[in-house]
Amino acid sequence: MMDSSNQMFEQSQNYVPGGVHSPVRSFSGVDSTPRFIKSGKGAYLLDVDGKNYIDFCMSFGPLILGHRDSEVELELKAALERGWSYGACEPYSLELAKYLVDKVPHIDKIRFVNSGTEAVMTALRVARGFTQRSKIIKFNGCYHGHTDSMLIKAGSGLAGTSQATSAGISSLIAEETVVFELNDLDAVSSYMQTSGADVAAIIVEPLPANNGLLVQSDHYLQGLFDLTRKHGALLIFDEVISGFRVNGFGGVAERMNFKPDLVTYGKIIGGGLPVGALAGRGDIMDYLAPVGDVYQAGTLSANPLAMVGGLATLQKLTTNCYQTINRNTKDLLQIFRNWLDNFEGGRFKEFHIVNVDSLFWLTTNPGATRAVDIPGDTAEKFCPLFETLLAKGVYLAPNGYEVGFISLAHDSEVIRELESRLGS
Ligand SMILES: Cc1ncc(COP(=O)(O)O)c(C=O)c1O
Repeated sequence: MMDSSNQMFEQSQNYVPGGVHSPVRSFSGVDSTPRFIKSGKGAYLLDVDGKNYIDFCMSFGPLILGHRDSEVELELKAALERGWSYGACEPYSLELAKYLVDKVPHIDKIRFVNSGTEAVMTALRVARGFTQRSKIIKFNGCYHGHTDSMLIKAGSGLAGTSQATSAGISSLIAEETVVFELNDLDAVSSYMQTSGADVAAIIVEPLPANNGLLVQSDHYLQGLFDLTRKHGALLIFDEVISGFRVNGFGGVAERMNFKPDLVTYGKIIGGGLPVGALAGRGDIMDYLAPVGDVYQAGTLSANPLAMVGGLATLQKLTTNCYQTINRNTKDLLQIFRNWLDNFEGGRFKEFHIVNVDSLFWLTTNPGATRAVDIPGDTAEKFCPLFETLLAKGVYLAPNGYEVGFISLAHDSEVIRELESRLGS
């Protein structure tokens, strides 16, 4: 007899392409079928069959406080009582914008949109409008959402050629995106030498966390910044994952000795409600309509419910809070480490754990800094690990290339619970 998750997945495929509304949810990356989740609280998920899991995916990042944080829940309930969309100016987005601009040193102005994809799409348009140039440089192994110009990889033929990674993207758009490997300043530098005058922006995840966790050096990021200064291009940091998580509230950008021109946000900025944002230098942001002539709009942009959820989440993220999450992450990862070493005589021993603050990645090549360094058998080796942990009530993101996320709700009780589930 099929369990309820499998029944629902079978049904869902009749109504929805592949049964899912975002591909990674299909569990195709782990040769399995998805659990259907009924509810979440703290660090736990409950599926429709009544099985509970310690959640290390946390909605792929937004839930830094855990599921249904009680203070955020109260604020959201109060917001619901007032109304949930006006299509007009309201005080809630003003409050969130003020909070962020006051607290984050590298942003002068911010605009809220509905997703990380939308933030990136708009940031690229602003960069092109501001510089009057068309080319964008991106890196293999960074994900920037599913706008056409970012679903591009390096072409397999001539150097400098580009190819779409999805059907449905015009080759004309692909040609406007130039793709390099990460951690290779020389390659970018020699391209800029010849073609820098055509480059509107370099976009990078300063901590690439979508294709493994490919930690880049500050020297490399500084080098990218220097190249943009030399050639009159903009530098866009995509901090959709790292923002408000890595290096504390200010994200990677705050750690650097320079300010990126634009930063894109998503995930934590909405605390689990659909919010994205682009932010940065005031003179560049003022290229956006209605003051500037770069068009961008949104019926549900700065949705009041989402603004309240975002603000209530961000206001709780004190320095203390980051210290606690990062400390608990170390304890949790030590339990994983012991388990990987000892489970069934060391069956998963070859996995290493790459960890930055509250992000982690299980991999057989912890030294990887470029997508090409990731072992080709990553998906294959991850499958049994994922299935074994899922059976023990430990929910990882269902793909060996995805990182894990730890929240404030992963506290000492959860640490004990993980220890007991992993039998160590
Ligand atoms: C760095 C980065 N940029 C952009 C996006 C796209 O965000 P969204 O899924 O909200 O469209 C993601 C999503 O995972 C991301 O990690």
